[in-house]
Formats: sequence, C-alpha cells, structure tokens
Amino acid sequence: MNMSEVKITQRLSTGPAGLSEAGELLRDGKLVAFPTETVYGLGADATNGLAVAGIYAAKGRPSFNPLIIHIASLQAALDLADFNADALMLAKAFWPGPLTIVVPRRADCPLSDLALAGLDSVALRIPAAPEAMALLEAVGRPVAAPSANRSGRVSPTTPEHVLEDLDGLIDAVVMGASARVGVESTIVSCLADPPMMLRPGGLAREAIEQVLGRVLADPSSSAENETAPLAPGMLLSHYAPRAAVRLNATDIRQGEAALLFGSAPIAGAARAVAAINLSPRGDLSEAAAALFGALRTLDTSGAAAIAVAPVPAHGLGEAINDRLRRAAAPRT
Ligand code: TXA
Ligand code: MG
Repeated sequence: MNMSEVKITQRLSTGPAGLSEAGELLRDGKLVAFPTETVYGLGADATNGLAVAGIYAAKGRPSFNPLIIHIASLQAALDLADFNADALMLAKAFWPGPLTIVVPRRADCPLSDLALAGLDSVALRIPAAPEAMALLEAVGRPVAAPSANRSGRVSPTTPEHVLEDLDGLIDAVVMGASARVGVESTIVSCLADPPMMLRPGGLAREAIEQVLGRVLADPSSSAENETAPLAPGMLLSHYAPRAAVRLNATDIRQGEAALLFGSAPIAGAARAVAAINLSPRGDLSEAAAALFGALRTLDTSGAAAIAVAPVPAHGLGEAINDRLRRAAAPRT
C-alpha cells in the first residue's frame, strides 16, 4: 500500500512489562505483532475500524479478506457469535489451540465490519501460546490478527521474520520465541452441515473428524476453489518466496536449493546451492514448525529455484503440502 506512515517499531519483551505495554498499545488503536503457537500475528483492536484499517495498510492486503478474531476465553467467543453443537464441541476439544472456527456473528457483535469484510460470519480462535493468552487478557477486547507478513509473503514464525517484512510499518513487536506449530491454524466452518474444512493447518484433519464423529466436508473442487475461494483469503498464489518453487522433486538440478524431508537420499544433492531438511527423522510436526523459516532461509541463498522433495499427505502433511503448493503457484 502506498501511503503507510513511517513508524518506529518498538521491540517489546514477553515479560509482564512488555505484554502490558503491548496491551495498552492495542487498546490505543495501535498495531502490535505478537507470537502465537502457529505463526506470529499482526494484531489490532477488532472493535476499532481505524485500527483494523491499519492492518490492511501495513500488510498491503486486499480489503475483501476477512481476519481471524482472537479472544481469551470461550465466554468471550460466545458473546460475539452463535455456536451450534458442532462448533461448541470443537471449541471445547481444541481451544486454546491451532483451530479457527467460523460461526454466525451475533446481531449485537461489536466487531468492526472491516475486520469481517462485511460478512455475517466470523472466524474465531483462542491461541494456546501463553504470551498470546496473557496479551489478550491484558487487552480485554477481541484482537483481529492475520499473519504478520506483507500480503502474499511467507508467514513469520520468529520476531525477526516479522521485522524483515514490517519494521517501520507497525508500532511494536512482542519478541517471543519461535512458533511451536509453525503453520497457521486449521479453519473449520460450522456454517455448513457437516462442518467444512476451509484451510488445512496446525490441527490435523484426523483429530477433528475423530471428535466430530463425522468426516469434514471439503470446499468443492480445487479448480473452483481457485477462482472463488470459500475462505476468501485462500488465494492460490500465497506464501510465495522470491525464488521459483519446484514440487515433488526427485533430483536437484544445477542452481537449485533443496528443501528435503526424511532420510531418503536424493539425486544430485551435492549440487544444491543450499539445503535444509525439514525433519531428517520424518516427523511431520517437526517439519511444519521448520517450514516457513526454511523457505525464507533458502530464498536468501540466491538460488533461482527451490526444489522440494515429496512430503507425505497425512496429518500435518496436509497443511505442509497446501502451503508448498501455494508457494509453487504461478505469481500474478
Ligand atoms: O494461525 C492463524 O490462523 C494465524 C494466527 C495469527 O492466528 N492467523 C491467520 O490469519 O492465519 P489470516 O488472516 O492470515 O487468515 C485468515 C483466513 C483467511 O483465509 C480468511 O479468508 C479466513 O481466515 N476467514 C476469515 N473470516 C472468515 C469467514 N467469516 N469465513 C470464511 N473464512 C474466513
Ligand atoms: Mg497469512
């Protein structure tokens, strides 16, 4: 976005003083990036339209894209939206945690229309990271927070990633540790019956289906989803490093960097400009936690392309493959 004002971005600690300062800034309509267990979020008071507008400006994000609203308790969620039996069951099973639930907003819901992009529904999440929880309690209001990256870039899993993209564009960053999960929350819409998985993420489909006792619906065909995404933010080209991305690579070609998984050897490995193995022991949770940092690191290697070895599709592999597919998609 063109006219974003230049700001001094404060670095705040995760101690009580830092978090209380962060809470005051948010209550004052300022933009504060903070750690969650999935990725770092760029927070603003979700009841303050002007503050929310600042998120779109700092991210350079298209304004039709609604934001996830973060709250500290189930009661706070129930004040904002109507939970049916499925939504309540999922909230009780998985909150706090890497699950976002889409439910109808209540008529008296004080969230800004801009945060919801004018929809009648709202995407809600209670994050599990203790710093996020303490911050939300300090704010005492719902906090809108997309991932704290420039729009279309790889999501941040460390405060340094946030500063790479947003230093000078936001008011503060809470300087926490690396995000434990490493990919964004799974988004489930309870507007449909059965509930529908709008975005694979840090909570595995299998765990959700076990609690529901039913199979989650999927947004129709992927081709249709590319042109009319159900989660409006699920544009196909997203999570894009600057380098080209080549998926399901069985060899490394001249000039490529390598993103590997597991212990199987890959042809031409010695040629790699740089190489990172997401999890030599083949653990999908470890791989998810390492994914976005690895894409950023390999992108700075100067390689023209990143060759990505196959990653299994089950568990968190569904979210990893989704993000990789988006990183590889043609850019517009
Ligand atoms: O892990 C996460 O979810 C992170 C951390 C910071 O909590 N947040 C995050 O937010 O990934 P964001 O804004 O990058 O992704 C929001 C997604 C978008 O795809 C958006 O379209 C979808 O949620 N969404 C928001 N409200 C929705 C609604 N009412 N119906 C359907 N999709 C919705
Ligand atoms: Mg994002």
